[in-house]
Amino acid sequence: MDLVRPYVVVFATCSLDGRIATKARDSRLSCPEDKRRQYWLRSKVDAIVVGANTVIVDDPRLYPKEFEHARPRYYRVVLDGKLRVPTSARIFDTSTYPTIVVTTEMHDREKAKALHERGVEIVIAGRGPRIDLVEAMKILSSSYGISTMMVEGGGETVWSFVETRIVDEMRITYRSIVVGGRNAVPLVAGEGFESVDEAFRFRPVLVGLCTCREEVHVIYRATNPIGVPVEEPRIGTLMNFAYVLDLGIEER
Ligand SMILES: NC(=O)c1ccc[n+]([C@@H]2O[C@H](COP(=O)([O-])OP(=O)(O)OC[C@H]3O[C@@H](n4cnc5c(N)ncnc54)[C@H](OP(=O)(O)O)[C@@H]3O)[C@@H](O)[C@H]2O)c1
Repeated sequence: MDLVRPYVVVFATCSLDGRIATKARDSRLSCPEDKRRQYWLRSKVDAIVVGANTVIVDDPRLYPKEFEHARPRYYRVVLDGKLRVPTSARIFDTSTYPTIVVTTEMHDREKAKALHERGVEIVIAGRGPRIDLVEAMKILSSSYGISTMMVEGGGETVWSFVETRIVDEMRITYRSIVVGGRNAVPLVAGEGFESVDEAFRFRPVLVGLCTCREEVHVIYRATNPIGVPVEEPRIGTLMNFAYVLDLGIEER
């Protein structure tokens, strides 16, 4: 039977050369309008996913800021196979939005207990060290009612989704700068595919020149993802562009 899973949108901002952070882990790439697109999208989904390193480096809260009224509740989801993220991270303050940590059977039980005491939900998917993403998607949709999901990164996390072909859309903002560096963080890291034939394929459905005129935002739709989304949402996009080339975002 087909995998029934959340509808997954990857959202990231990168340099022209595909880096989401410099070699010193500086990830301040977005202009204020790109930030608004990010907050707006956060307010449209049931869950936002980040990897352990992003939480360790950026300590994000993943709030929708000015769009809070649009979505008073959604889950923040951290992929952390071994529970490396310190329990003091701001994302584990569950007084505003709930947080789920997806881990594996290899996790540290004491740390899980400490997280649980902070109100964090623990989901175990797989024996480890890698999270079984298919299993995680099944649990998140069936036990937590998550039907739309935004994956914010970083590179290793995006690869986990790309590798398993659990992506429906990529929403990428390209800032007109080149940062270079073999140790800078790529949009998609991990092992990578061997050949172009194996690559995960997408087609562009919307291209927007940001009003800042230094960024191009492109929405791509996957042509061959695995599984079936619980629902096919019409998310739309925040139209804060100077020019838009709409190639059929409403067509599926
Ligand atoms: N510009 C942007 O839009 C943007 C957005 C987000 C993040 N960033 C930047 O990206 C950088 C971090 O990226 P990153 O690639 O180093 O790391 P990351 O994707 O944030 O986190 C990677 C870690 O998460 C855990 N993880 C992810 N997928 C997993 C899986 N399937 N199974 C088990 N564990 C999994 C692993 O922890 P273990 O190794 O412990 O197993 C892995 O090492 C930061 O500098 C951040 O600022 C930029």
